[in-house]
Amino acid sequence: MPNAIVFGATSGIGKKLAQFLVNDNYHVIITGRRFELLEEIKAVNPNAYSIKELDVQNIGDIEAFFYETVNKFKEVSLIIHTAGIGYENPELDWQKEQDTIKTNVLGATRIYDLAFILFKTQGFGHLVSISSIASLRGNRHSPAYFASKAFQVNYLESLYFKSKEIKGKKVFVTDIRPGFVDTRMALGDDFFWMASLEKASKQIYSAIKRKKRRVYISKRWILIAWVLKVVPSWLMKKVM
Ligand SMILES: NC(=O)c1ccc[n+]([C@@H]2O[C@H](COP(=O)([O-])OP(=O)(O)OC[C@H]3O[C@@H](n4cnc5c(N)ncnc54)[C@H](OP(=O)(O)O)[C@@H]3O)[C@@H](O)[C@H]2O)c1
Repeated sequence: MPNAIVFGATSGIGKKLAQFLVNDNYHVIITGRRFELLEEIKAVNPNAYSIKELDVQNIGDIEAFFYETVNKFKEVSLIIHTAGIGYENPELDWQKEQDTIKTNVLGATRIYDLAFILFKTQGFGHLVSISSIASLRGNRHSPAYFASKAFQVNYLESLYFKSKEIKGKKVFVTDIRPGFVDTRMALGDDFFWMASLEKASKQIYSAIKRKKRRVYISKRWILIAWVLKVVPSWLMKKVM
């Protein structure tokens, strides 16, 4: 039975992906801060899940969990990073900016590096991270969130380049870039092209199985990505 770790599986996309993995006979180690939700997930299928309360802002805790897990399970073939936060923060409240950077940049980077080093040592493995369409431009309402997603995308590309140095070509890096997905991260009702959690997660899981380098979710967001890449800042400032 292959082992997978999902960082940020108490709700939303991470929880769904963990369920899909269990259906495909993975043993899945799921993490998050809300331990009672982890317990609820495990209760449905106790043998399929291991659970760990973990705040990815605490780098030492990530490391301790990671080394314990690898020691216990020996091999991990898939690591999915979905732990993330984002705020509307037009006033630039420092606590919110700092929280976002600690979670989406510092925590994410430590997880990426631990995963990559493990896969390099094992000679195989697949790192997946849920970045965002937000990675492509700046945004006046949520500067830290948009910048943190740009950081993730570039870091993942760097690891993809590095993976090409590993003999055997069995280490993969996948960057998932959703538009709007109907989870607690996308609260409100003025979102366009909002994908249901089910639809988005199925498309993400399919991309993971195909070991895609990068993918936009849902597929129609490729069009928005193209627009975001070509529109100049003087025009973009009217919408972002
Ligand atoms: N929904 C969208 O429209 C959308 C669009 C683009 C990208 N994304 C990205 O998709 C990823 C998943 O988000 P989601 O939409 O599925 O929302 P979600 O339901 O809020 O899931 C976020 C997950 O991250 C975990 N998390 C947050 N802070 C954490 C911390 N400090 N330590 C450990 N775990 C933490 C949460 O667990 P706990 O709260 O229990 O810790 C939760 O399991 C995020 O990275 C998000 O940026 C979402």
